Amino acid sequence: MLEALARDRIMVALDVDRTRALELADILAGHARWVKIGMTLYYAEGPSIVRAFKERGFKVFLDLKFHDIPHQVRGAARSAAATGADLLTVHGLGAGPMLAAACEGAREAAEACGGERARVIAITVLTSMDAPALASIGVAGPLADEAARLAALARDNGTDGVVCSPQEAQAMRQLLGEDAWIVTPGVRPAGAALGDQSRVATPAAAIAAGASHLVVGRPITGADDPLAAFEAIVGELVRDA
Ligand code: C5P
Repeated sequence: MLEALARDRIMVALDVDRTRALELADILAGHARWVKIGMTLYYAEGPSIVRAFKERGFKVFLDLKFHDIPHQVRGAARSAAATGADLLTVHGLGAGPMLAAACEGAREAAEACGGERARVIAITVLTSMDAPALASIGVAGPLADEAARLAALARDNGTDGVVCSPQEAQAMRQLLGEDAWIVTPGVRPAGAALGDQSRVATPAAAIAAGASHLVVGRPITGADDPLAAFEAIVGELVRDA
């Protein structure tokens, strides 16, 4: 894979506080293209944290996982996209009208603010859920079927792709086609600590399975040398993907 493409495929998950997030921005600026801001950091800091990263030249994956009535989700997506975020998430479980509303909100923000429309990708089944957890909320069939059903629903209602584990990436690529965004967390370079991740793949394996983008947090943010850790993943993708 070309080096520039490899850089564009790695999303650094900043599950840290504002001070550390901005330190990491200084360390990774000019090297990493994407950061992922989740609920913990966003709810503490608000839109200013997105703008801080946009001003430093990063693309921002704002992972707020919308799930509410369509009217509210449309407004949430519009507001989130208006911060400058480039990628948003929505729960597939909210069903078609809610998924379409999220896409509509992102479009409205692009019309109002100019610039490119934020992409919207769907969460299918949270990786924290297993078959008994699904059964407990009334979903009886196999987990993979539920994930595929929700991914197809998301596709049919205008979303740009899904978040899924590397193990599901191949099936999702087949289902959603070559243009879909398939964003996989649970990525660990060989030898890296697993933390609380159980179903993991190496960066090159996740890409080979069909991922378009990799979310990598602690292997980079918790490293003694975050830039070296990031560059090692770039190197692996250039060499092996
Ligand atoms: O530190 P680590 O590389 O495990 O970070 C992975 C990131 O991806 C975290 O921000 C986590 O919330 C997110 N994520 C995940 N599994 C999912 C969805 C999101 O680990 N199924």
